[in-house]
Amino acid sequence: MKVAVIGTGYVGITTGVTLAYVGHHVTCVDVNPAKLASLKAGKAPIYEPGLEELLSLAAERLAFTDSYAEAVPEADVIFIAVGTPPLPDGNPDLQYLQAAAAGIGEHIGEGFTVVVNKSTVPIGSGNWVDALIHEAFATRRGKLFQEHLAVASNPEFLREGSAIHDSLYPDRVVVGAEDQRALEVLYTLYRPILEQTFTPPSFIPRPEGLQAVPFIATDLTSAELIKYSANAFLALKISFINEIAALAERVGADVTQIAKGIGLDARIGTRFLQAGIGWGGSCFGKDTAALIATAQDYGLSMPIVAAAREVNYRQRERIVEKLLAELKILKGRTIGLLGLAFKPNTDDLRDAPALDIARRLIERGVRVRVHDPVAMEKARREHPHLALHYCQTPEEVAEEADALVLVTEWAMYRELPWEEMARRMRRAVMVDGRNFLDRAQMAALGFRYVGIGLNPLEPPHFAAKEAPRAVRVEG
Ligand code: UDX
Repeated sequence: MKVAVIGTGYVGITTGVTLAYVGHHVTCVDVNPAKLASLKAGKAPIYEPGLEELLSLAAERLAFTDSYAEAVPEADVIFIAVGTPPLPDGNPDLQYLQAAAAGIGEHIGEGFTVVVNKSTVPIGSGNWVDALIHEAFATRRGKLFQEHLAVASNPEFLREGSAIHDSLYPDRVVVGAEDQRALEVLYTLYRPILEQTFTPPSFIPRPEGLQAVPFIATDLTSAELIKYSANAFLALKISFINEIAALAERVGADVTQIAKGIGLDARIGTRFLQAGIGWGGSCFGKDTAALIATAQDYGLSMPIVAAAREVNYRQRERIVEKLLAELKILKGRTIGLLGLAFKPNTDDLRDAPALDIARRLIERGVRVRVHDPVAMEKARREHPHLALHYCQTPEEVAEEADALVLVTEWAMYRELPWEEMARRMRRAVMVDGRNFLDRAQMAALGFRYVGIGLNPLEPPHFAAKEAPRAVRVEG
């Protein structure tokens, strides 16, 4: 099929590249000339494992342009994947969505075209985009007949850092539309993924046992709300375990054991129960705020979602409290942060806890030294006024530091020469914001190790090498 993708951010570029990889012809549109130049040269504008390799594998079926006229008229399916950043009141800024809809309306072809909202858009945006396309068409070419156009919602669930994997092997594909034909077109578009008929790229193998991906065909509004509900639920799972972590610390329990103990109940599930600094990134904060704002428009409150946000942002202050408890006085201290990106395998700094923690520390008169394997350049560029001391190596961060905080669980931080790190520090205090490091090893090296939701007395855990045989009770 012929596909146009408007916007080459995380969602747009991943969608474009994976659809081209599975056999479609994709033209990506963006207004940013630097991004286009980089993509044309085969370079990914974002740090995302596997993206560049897939770009080169799918190059034959991929084109990049700043012109709607080149991409839109021929397309069977047009994805809108532009940014919807949050406004100060929590509502998303829809100016890019509006511009994309207008651009599509001006250039849409004569054949049946499905326009798909892939960006996370407020409830009701499908109808709005439909109206904007009709309006833009009318200003140039008269009336656009309903049989030529259907608007659909196809929310994206990819995670940064594993975006390609999540797009090729999704847990489900959700599509919402009022027009049955749109659902059929999108089923055909996604068929290679739904039926897993493509050859997996060697560097991102297909998960064992995956044979088919469920396709959820629903109405437009339900699809829009599925996206928000999924993100809000994941966000509140994380906040829930962080709330339990705070209590675990007080009563002398271990939150990692609790997560395991509750997670193995299939109704709860083990994933997204890692206690720590909490969530950051472009989605959870923005989408939970937007959900609350939408509910408000209908006179509803969302106390559970609001509480999840409150708990999440309190986690950042709790790191400062932990440092205060260890060092007593923060003014004049030197504190090192390991990791800036909101999570590993990305250079994304949106709503990154590290920046928030750094700001709070700087306000308290702390000198903040930082390291991140990929996000430092971006941090310098995007936050020029934040007085951070950037270090080329983690060892340099440790130099004369009164404490270190592990903010992002980059794999490389597990392998650091910790003994040397301790020697370089003024005080070997480690606040592990992700419960990532080997606590016993750190303690053995002389670190004062502080995690999240861990029992300071560290009772021994019974490590069962073999599960005891089930005992059959005759009845
Ligand atoms: C998220 C959703 O997972 C994805 O489906 C949606 O499309 C976009 O938002 P992303 O923001 O890329 O994806 O990252 P994700 O892996 O979900 O992590 C979000 C944040 O939660 C990170 O800051 C991570 O460190 C934190 N997190 C995650 C926890 O603190 N604990 C966990 O158990 C899991």
